[in-house]
Amino acid sequence: MIAIHDRRFYGSFNAGWIEYCIENSIPFKSVNCYDSDIVAQVRDCDALLWHHSHVFYEDVLFAKQLLYSLEQAGKRVYPDFNTTWHFDDKVGQKYLLESIGAPLVPSYVFYSKSAAVDWIQGTSFPKVFKLRIGAGGMHVKLVASREQASALVKRAFTSGFSRYDEWHNLKERLRRYRSGSDSVYGIFKGVVRLLLRPAFVRMQSSEKGYAYFQDFIADNESDTRIVVVGDRALGEKRLVRENDFRASGSGKFVYSNIDLEAVGIAFDVSRRLKLQSAAFDFVFDSHRRPLIVEMSYGFGTTGICNAPGYWTSDLRWHEGRVNPEGWILEGIMRDFGGVRSSL
Ligand SMILES: Nc1ncnc2c1ncn2[C@@H]1O[C@H](COP(=O)(O)OP(=O)(O)O)[C@@H](O)[C@H]1O
Ligand SMILES: [Mg+2]
Repeated sequence: MIAIHDRRFYGSFNAGWIEYCIENSIPFKSVNCYDSDIVAQVRDCDALLWHHSHVFYEDVLFAKQLLYSLEQAGKRVYPDFNTTWHFDDKVGQKYLLESIGAPLVPSYVFYSKSAAVDWIQGTSFPKVFKLRIGAGGMHVKLVASREQASALVKRAFTSGFSRYDEWHNLKERLRRYRSGSDSVYGIFKGVVRLLLRPAFVRMQSSEKGYAYFQDFIADNESDTRIVVVGDRALGEKRLVRENDFRASGSGKFVYSNIDLEAVGIAFDVSRRLKLQSAAFDFVFDSHRRPLIVEMSYGFGTTGICNAPGYWTSDLRWHEGRVNPEGWILEGIMRDFGGVRSSL
């Protein structure tokens, strides 16, 4: 029996999991991880699957604590510790990827204003400034000068940054409206958001006490996202927005000419870190070498599920329907035989 936490959001895995269970006659039950007796609810289950998200403050509060607890007790969980401890934490990913010598974009983190200011004096610009959290390019900025960097650092060590950039949200809605993928109602919602902040902002503190920068890797018209689930990998390029360097969240996908070296790196890192699933975002330096900008256990299914096929870890291409949610489930079920819950 598989337990699935079924709170859905745009691009979430839940619908795909449930469809897969029904199609393959796999017994499952829907559970609510927010219930206080959730541990009792999953006692008769072999596994718990929860596509937890940074957009729900409840998930940020305790998804990892619950998943790791069940994992320690011998249940199979998705995502497990190796897969998700670094989720929505770009600073954590920096240490992890540096530790295993993976090709991360050169990245710098400071925990005091003076350390950051010293570094700013001695480095070159432009650089990229990021919060450790966020998605869709919301908290990623190009910093052209020392002055701009200093202003960001000052803020990082005073008021800090809100987890939600309502102006970015409104601009994105206007951009999507112009390209026909958002409605007037969507723009109205963006305006309302200027006044009424979402729960995940109201319920969480602002980001502060650190400053995170990366070298700016110029001249990328897209990023390349490689998603690895078990022995399969999917690829997509996401085109950068007009007059912008950011691809994440642009909604413009291309599935051809995906760099095989990036696919190989994604498989290698996933294997070494024992990841159940991972999306790696790559940009390319002036020698066309792929560099990772961030990684994430979860990924939007909307773009990647249109990929025309997948690679296996021998880097052979297989044309055909892709089903990352189903592959995640297959990975979980493969382990059932060995480990039973001791709960
Ligand atoms: N160091 C960098 N150099 C060049 N482009 C970058 C860099 N970091 C991020 N980008 C661009 O900005 C986008 C968003 O950055 P990313 O770190 O993936 O944050 P998010 O979590 O918002 O997706 C990426 O898709 C990429 O196009
Ligand atoms: Mg990204």
